[in-house]
Amino acid sequence: MKQLLLLCTILAAASCSPKTFSIVQIADAQLGFDAAVKGQEPGAIYVNDLTYEKECFERAAESLRGLKPEMIVFTGDQIHRPLDQEQWDAFSELLTLLPDNAIVKHLPGNHDVLISEGKVDNTPFTSRFGEDRFVYRKGRFCIIGINSSLIKHDDPCEDEQYEWLKKTLEKTDSNCVKVIFCHHPFFVSDIDEEDGHVAIAKDKRKKYFDLFADSGVSAVYAGHLHHNAEGEYKRVKMATTTSVAYQLGEEKPSYRLIVLTRRRGESPVQDLMVPVLK
Ligand SMILES: [Fe+2]
Repeated sequence: MKQLLLLCTILAAASCSPKTFSIVQIADAQLGFDAAVKGQEPGAIYVNDLTYEKECFERAAESLRGLKPEMIVFTGDQIHRPLDQEQWDAFSELLTLLPDNAIVKHLPGNHDVLISEGKVDNTPFTSRFGEDRFVYRKGRFCIIGINSSLIKHDDPCEDEQYEWLKKTLEKTDSNCVKVIFCHHPFFVSDIDEEDGHVAIAKDKRKKYFDLFADSGVSAVYAGHLHHNAEGEYKRVKMATTTSVAYQLGEEKPSYRLIVLTRRRGESPVQDLMVPVLK
């Protein structure tokens, strides 16, 4: 609670201070996940019931209208079935509930695109949100978003994205506070952990994290796991944020509040999880 009060104080000051910047990360709203799980139960008939995820999102949006963050980043898996128009329509409707003044950015997750071996078709995402990556700079803050499915699934466009990322970081003032957002965690808790189906492959992790460390990136924020996790490599934090809705661990549906600061003596990146359901 103390940490929440501290961050809320920082946030309240953020709007009139060029030394702070507030971001909320929303991971894996994934409208339709609950229905898909229920539809797999023995004897069940699939019903595209989005009630649970919609309720979680509505609670999150209500909270954010009070919090008024400067930026909201969706780190992918906005819906469950990439070609399901009903799920996309419901998601678009929910977006209207977000506070008007926030800059809103979306990144694709594996459920927002079509994946076949070695190839990612981003069309279901890009036809709705445009680019699958972004850079946003404000004062001495730099926020970058990338499409981690290209990395996870060995898409031919991965190299082009890496070069863009490298150039973007090179062009950014070394005194800037920098954070990266993406869908897949590069690792769950240890950069040397064995390969699994959730994180980026072991043989790619250090290439990216060496770049991040050399470029002064403070933290990488991902989702995809539907539970929280954290690790660090060369002082770059790897934080995985649980879903704002459907959980696969013990956490409650939550979003992550992140405050970037350039105040002397303070950590440049502070964050905490905020539950959306009581
Ligand atoms: Fe995912």
